[in-house]
Amino acid sequence: MRIDVLNGVNLDMLGRRNSRIYGDASLQDLETQIYAWARELSLQVRCRQTNHEGEYVGFLHAALDNADALVVNPGAWTHYSWAIRDALEPFGGAVVEVHISDVDAREEWRRLSVLEGLTTERITGAAICTGIGRYAIARAADYAREREVWDVPIGRHQGIAHPLATAKIELELARLMTAKAAWLHDHDADPAVAGEAANMAKYAAAEAGLHCLDAAIQTHGGNGMASEYGLADLWGLLRLLRIAPVSREMVLNFVAQQSLGLPKSY
Ligand code: DQA
Repeated sequence: MRIDVLNGVNLDMLGRRNSRIYGDASLQDLETQIYAWARELSLQVRCRQTNHEGEYVGFLHAALDNADALVVNPGAWTHYSWAIRDALEPFGGAVVEVHISDVDAREEWRRLSVLEGLTTERITGAAICTGIGRYAIARAADYAREREVWDVPIGRHQGIAHPLATAKIELELARLMTAKAAWLHDHDADPAVAGEAANMAKYAAAEAGLHCLDAAIQTHGGNGMASEYGLADLWGLLRLLRIAPVSREMVLNFVAQQSLGLPKSY
């Protein structure tokens, strides 16, 4: 998997910008960390930065043939560069928009992202969560059918079967919402409708995925923590996905404001 990490205007100044907003790390610190993670995950990552909008557009054009996924932080261009949006539009892979600061909690003008509707990180995140959930439940069901205690498979006991069945139901509901969000995105639905579905899918998938994994670990007892069973190692990733991209709390804020018309809380 080839991933381009594309930072835009002024991000080369990280470390010298307001540290209360952007932290102390320099761009080089961040890129060193990204390359280390890439090595651990066997991903082919290329980090690039520019202060020239035309060059950034060139990075996006080059990515069409050379990258499978993009992580983009266009800096201030995020809020007004329709040229960058147009350049990103033909890209067929997953696109994740990231920011160092919490743009939604800052000035009003930073809340507009010209990339809205093009970045699929919520749908991709939801699919990862439900995928891990499916894997975990399948492993747990196999184990509950095979492992015998007192001459019966442990899955015969409702204390084992019901948590797995509950998690399976939650998982299928979350998968349905994820499929709906992906369909709306693929069919160029109104961004407000597609955005609502993507947020809801991300929320539901992270919750369901974690319930599945937790139920699967519990079904395995002590074996659930042993690396040979391949479950506990997935917990960190799933737990992270409950926080990012976009935390559970920000999805709830979005639904409260956009879907229910409640006043903004932050
Ligand atoms: C930024 C947020 C933008 O609003 C700002 O103009 C930046 C950096 C961030 O990463 O937090 O330059 O993209």
